[in-house]
Amino acid sequence: MGIKYAALEIVVSLGPIEAIPLGQGRTYVVDGRAIAVFRQRDGQLFATQHACPHRGGPLADGIIGAGKVICPLHARKFDLKTGASLQEDCCAIQTYPVRSEGGEIILTLA
Ligand code: FES
Repeated sequence: MGIKYAALEIVVSLGPIEAIPLGQGRTYVVDGRAIAVFRQRDGQLFATQHACPHRGGPLADGIIGAGKVICPLHARKFDLKTGASLQEDCCAIQTYPVRSEGGEIILTLA
């Protein structure tokens, strides 16, 4: 008989969705981690690590659209859903589940 350990998840409300204007991102610190949360113009939410893996640029200040973010420092592009880098010279970013519930932003960290 084996023992299965469920992964520890942290589910947290980040506050009202209106705190992020459409088409922009904001940075939140949760459990000591800086998380960028994006609210695309069509209302979709995405969450990723805050710092760009290239040289630490603030991804929440990047340009977003079509499920992608462009880092404001050197324009590396990342897929917001998968975290994949869209350039070969940069690695992927961490993504996190995020949703809207009752007008609040709900983030899950594993
Ligand atoms: S720091 Fe993001 S592309 Fe350079």
